[in-house]
Amino acid sequence: MPTPPSTQAWKALADYRRVMDQAHLRDMFRDDPRRFERFSLRLGPILYDYSKQRIDTRCMELLFSLAREMDLEGKIQAMYSGARINRTEDRSVLHIALRNRSNRPIEVDGQDVMPGVNAVLDQMREFTARVRSGEWTGSTGRQITDVVNIGIGGSDLGPRMAAKALAAYGQPGLSCHFVSNIDPTHLHQCLHALDPETTLFVIASKTFTTQETMTNARSARKWLTDELGEKADVARHFVAVSTNEPKVREFGIDPKNMFRFWDWVGGRYSVWSAIGLPLALLIGMDRFEDFLLGAHMVDEHFQTAELEENVPAIMGLLAVWYSSFLGAESQAVLPYDQYLEDFPAYLQQGEMESNGKRITMDGEVVDYPTGPIIWGEPGTNGQHAFFQLLHQGTRLVPCDFIAFARSLNPIGEHHEILLANFFAQTEALMRGKTEAEAKEELKAQGLDQEQVERLVRHKTFPGNRPSSSIVVEELTPYTLGALMALYEHKIFVQGAVWNINSFDQMGVELGKQLAKAILPELQSPGSVSAHDNSTNGLINAWKALAGPR
Ligand code: F6P
Repeated sequence: MPTPPSTQAWKALADYRRVMDQAHLRDMFRDDPRRFERFSLRLGPILYDYSKQRIDTRCMELLFSLAREMDLEGKIQAMYSGARINRTEDRSVLHIALRNRSNRPIEVDGQDVMPGVNAVLDQMREFTARVRSGEWTGSTGRQITDVVNIGIGGSDLGPRMAAKALAAYGQPGLSCHFVSNIDPTHLHQCLHALDPETTLFVIASKTFTTQETMTNARSARKWLTDELGEKADVARHFVAVSTNEPKVREFGIDPKNMFRFWDWVGGRYSVWSAIGLPLALLIGMDRFEDFLLGAHMVDEHFQTAELEENVPAIMGLLAVWYSSFLGAESQAVLPYDQYLEDFPAYLQQGEMESNGKRITMDGEVVDYPTGPIIWGEPGTNGQHAFFQLLHQGTRLVPCDFIAFARSLNPIGEHHEILLANFFAQTEALMRGKTEAEAKEELKAQGLDQEQVERLVRHKTFPGNRPSSSIVVEELTPYTLGALMALYEHKIFVQGAVWNINSFDQMGVELGKQLAKAILPELQSPGSVSAHDNSTNGLINAWKALAGPR
């Protein structure tokens, strides 16, 4: 595989950047009345408009050439065919199999994975139906009213985000809660309001060794047995989702109540597996399968559409353009929908754990920027907080604006106001306000010449600030699944072009190792001296503050 900077297209893009630096989006729209038609695509219920990005036809051609030189198409086919593309961990990457509603065989080591996938879906269907109908009860015979998912990272963010997003489709009388943090406050906040007789815990951990999850799980089990005393039957209140059956047994969960998945499912891509169990309990299995179907629709598109028509490919290539050529350090994701409150946090793990890498597939240190910082908040809240920087700050922050055409909770004119803001923001970012326009406005307000001169620069907006708009018909399990799959594949595209492995996460290990070494030091008396001066100082100061152990 060539290094990205050694390709023809990379070199041409590095040159073309200078052309684009001279261009202003306002002028490009003026010069091309069909720019929206040229740079927008429809995919089922999704409209993707990238016409307000700093690109033109030539730039897109070069980006597609870059993708081809880095063999994006070959890499897509390799993923779909079950090749071990996660080379550092020697694993296939097959979240697409989890939502393969066509049921076409997908093989790993000559073995079709689909029967296993379908068996777990059947197990989930049976279990969720029993819990939702009240047939499955707690140990005192009462119906389950609260499901507590204990997991962290990919075993939390995906199901938590999706459960919040699809709350409108939830079963009345059944609530989902998510405990991830080892901070005891998180478990306390959740449990203090719950009745142990009607609470079901889902212990979600791919490895079943994650310190936070296992500690929270043990404390939850203690809470249950302390509260219910002799009546406590842990088997009726604890189920597990994991790849590690021996550890699940060791914890005391009956393997009959274990939902398995496989090492070819990355944690941050696992919501489509039984890690989605809390979501399936909330919305029911038919809707969970709609969620899978939406993602499958995008999977089919990603695998078969030409790059020029391929929405995730374009999303990923634009991200490469901004990170590697235009110097953008971050990208904002701005859902104009309260239900998608946790979408940016979910994408943070998806993008940053996947593409926050500095070593190529060939073991070399990269000499180009890779994965950007992802951040965001729902609109319109963000407008009253950080949008100032987007409009007039010194940084380039490409933004994804996401909105739904219809609200699930229409009240008066709220949704129209929301969307008016959605459209206005992308227009304002793109167009800006020239000094001449700002002057005119100030004069019209009756300000004198001196006041106008003093204020005009502050009132000027440079514009040319790029964004994509994603407009979806309505928030449903299907459209949420589709939206999430778009971003998953966008992540893949970036990794393929940068020639990095988007599917390991070795950068999280060092902190874990050090924490394991420090814990016994915190739990034993005496001062510590084994670390650097700052860490020793902090630990010893904490010991003094926290009191004797
Ligand atoms: O520490 C990072 C990580 O390994 C994530 O990649 C993963 O999603 C999370 O921890 C949780 O891991 P597990 O599901 O094995 O508990």
